[in-house]
Amino acid sequence: MGEGVLTSGFARVDGALACEGVALERIAREVGTPTYVYSATMIRDRYSRLDSALSVLPHRIHYTLKANSNAGILRLLRELGAGVDIVSGGELYRALRAGFRGEDIVFGGVGKTERELREALEASVSLINVESEAEVRAIDRIAADVGTTARVGLRVNPEVTVDSSHRYIKTGERGAKFGIPFDEVLEVARVCASLTHVELVGLDMHIGSQLFRVDPYVDGVERLTGLLAAIRGEGIETLRYLDIGGGLGVSYSDEVSPDLGRFARALTSRVKATGLMLLMEPGRFIVGNAGMLLTRVLYRKHSGGRDFLVCDAGMTELIRPSHYDAYHRIESVQPNSGSITADVVGPICESGDFLALGREMDDAGAGDLLAVHDVGAYGYVMASNYNTRPRGAEVLVDGDRFAVVTVRERYEDLVHLETADPDWRTA
Ligand code: LLP
Repeated sequence: MGEGVLTSGFARVDGALACEGVALERIAREVGTPTYVYSATMIRDRYSRLDSALSVLPHRIHYTLKANSNAGILRLLRELGAGVDIVSGGELYRALRAGFRGEDIVFGGVGKTERELREALEASVSLINVESEAEVRAIDRIAADVGTTARVGLRVNPEVTVDSSHRYIKTGERGAKFGIPFDEVLEVARVCASLTHVELVGLDMHIGSQLFRVDPYVDGVERLTGLLAAIRGEGIETLRYLDIGGGLGVSYSDEVSPDLGRFARALTSRVKATGLMLLMEPGRFIVGNAGMLLTRVLYRKHSGGRDFLVCDAGMTELIRPSHYDAYHRIESVQPNSGSITADVVGPICESGDFLALGREMDDAGAGDLLAVHDVGAYGYVMASNYNTRPRGAEVLVDGDRFAVVTVRERYEDLVHLETADPDWRTA
């Protein structure tokens, strides 16, 4: 990322972990555990660094809501001038509620429903990235019904090879479910041009997540540039946006994020040559390192030659370790000089319920607070209520202040949509 990067909003003060100017012990005491804690300064820092690296190009950063859609974080990013990238009607609802206007919103996703498309068109979103000819035709029909013209981008599968850490987060390789197969894109562009309620304004790709190399982006942009020429060659001159998706990797252990200067330099001449405005949809890069999960150790036990720390957070709070084999650094909040090798597990009735396996870490026992790092992206948003566990709280820290930006769920929240007295219907 270059010099002077704020690598963490979390540091030790007098030996104990703090987020910016607030002791994590205090947050645990006042808000309870499990709780997600986010550093506002770090989120601002990441956004501003990317924004200034791209400043040599006409561009806009559309923060990807799916990484972390908390209202407090959305507000912060809106104040910085970000747009958003959404993938569902629910995210559209959140974005509008957070004060984003239609023109700030890019709508993507592989399976948008009729209702979601209608809502997006009614909100006049700036761009709908489409994934098939059938979707373009559906949008044309819905736009006619709404009485508008849809601005669409073609999400291209550029069929490039990426270095993503896990196969579940690769998207731009041949045969993926995402995007329009490369050799069908020109035909879909022709279809767009033939429809009266669709205007083709963009080309889009998203090649994967947790990417460290710049060359797949360059390869992808070159593939899109080739398509652009072919599309223009058909007399279609309406394109305005080149959307290169998200995917910038962050450090969970010893990885190094792509150098933003190098990233921007690699793209500049190629994007300038297109005459299009660059759009990016980062999620993890903006919030990933800016969040940690506070959990309390309930029990320490020994079984079959292994040590277990049984915590009040597990796969229901953070599914990344069990779903993607993801590594998240874990530390004791209070100073601790000893070390142990332990499985850090949750209370869920699943053997796959763990935060770390065989981890060499700070010594800890019942009652101790642990900090699970780098969970700002794809943490709380992927939480579930399995085992009827209320989702935890979310806290935003800004300097020496903190605010609860999501309250802890209550048992009543978990059952209020259910009935024990069904309204039976028969044919
Ligand atoms: N744009 C599109 C079309 C996407 O599908 C995604 C992420 C992004 C942008 C943002 O990617 P990012 O900058 O955050 O890498 N749950 C997984 C990650 C799934 C990513 C899905 N798509 C995880 O926890 O690693």
